[in-house]
Amino acid sequence: MSFKHQASAYIQYLWKAKNEHSVHSPFLFKLLIHAFYKAKSNSDLEALDTWYKNMCQSEESFQFEDFGAGSHINKAKTRQVGEFTRAVGKPKKYRHLMYHLCAQLQPKSILELGSATGVSGAYMAKGYSSSKLISIEGSTELAQIASREWNKLGIKNASIKSGEFNVHLDSVLSELKPLDLAYIDGNHQEEPTLAYFEKVLEYGSDNLTIIFDDIYWSEGMTKAWEKIKAHSKVRQSVDVFQMGVILFIIVKGHFPFEEANAKDYYYSLIIK
Ligand SMILES: C[S@@+](CC[C@H](N)C(=O)[O-])C[C@H]1O[C@@H](n2cnc3c(N)ncnc32)[C@H](O)[C@@H]1O
Repeated sequence: MSFKHQASAYIQYLWKAKNEHSVHSPFLFKLLIHAFYKAKSNSDLEALDTWYKNMCQSEESFQFEDFGAGSHINKAKTRQVGEFTRAVGKPKKYRHLMYHLCAQLQPKSILELGSATGVSGAYMAKGYSSSKLISIEGSTELAQIASREWNKLGIKNASIKSGEFNVHLDSVLSELKPLDLAYIDGNHQEEPTLAYFEKVLEYGSDNLTIIFDDIYWSEGMTKAWEKIKAHSKVRQSVDVFQMGVILFIIVKGHFPFEEANAKDYYYSLIIK
């Protein structure tokens, strides 16, 4: 059911993106250009990628307490760090995107729901090291692993609260207020997603950006995303099927991670 839903959502997405054919807001467009198009690797990203590769190979085992909507892949209780990181992780281009988005947006405060083994949190925290990032993770042993890994990476601007999202959400949001960036990457169900969204809005700054992952994970998530886009406070939303990359490819005709080319129309228009 879910695979079928994802496939049909993907086709609808491609169709819609092709017909809309452009990103209307200059702010969003510029952000996409800088976070995708001009995105280049650097020593931070090289170190993070090496670390990520090691994480993916780790055979360390841990007890996983499943708090959320579960996984399409594996419901076992004993899991391995490497296998788990690969199962929930994103490809390199999306990890880099998390880094570049933070580098571009420079959020003073970041909330992450769902630390897992600490991958997305590490890329965001390193992307803008003057930020303060707090991540919430329900699975106790995962929270310990992510925290330990962030220490190893020398990350000083991020910490983890271990427990159910709802247990910590109010206190964490009070600590981060006014919130600049939220990354919602856990408990992929319609009602909880909408509740997190409302809560995050309450504590958000004027520049609040919210990133929802897995918006086509299930019908419930797609419904939640549709409701969020229609919310009166949401001025701009980029339909990020794995974060807008597809849209970018359709508009530009190539992957956004290739090196910036001064001959390109958009490059000369916006970046020069
Ligand atoms: C998709 S993974 C996060 C991946 C991570 N952000 C990354 O990209 O590396 C979702 C995580 O959220 C946690 N989670 C899901 N629902 C939760 C809930 N209701 N309370 C606390 N943690 C939850 C799970 O234990 C899991 O580790």
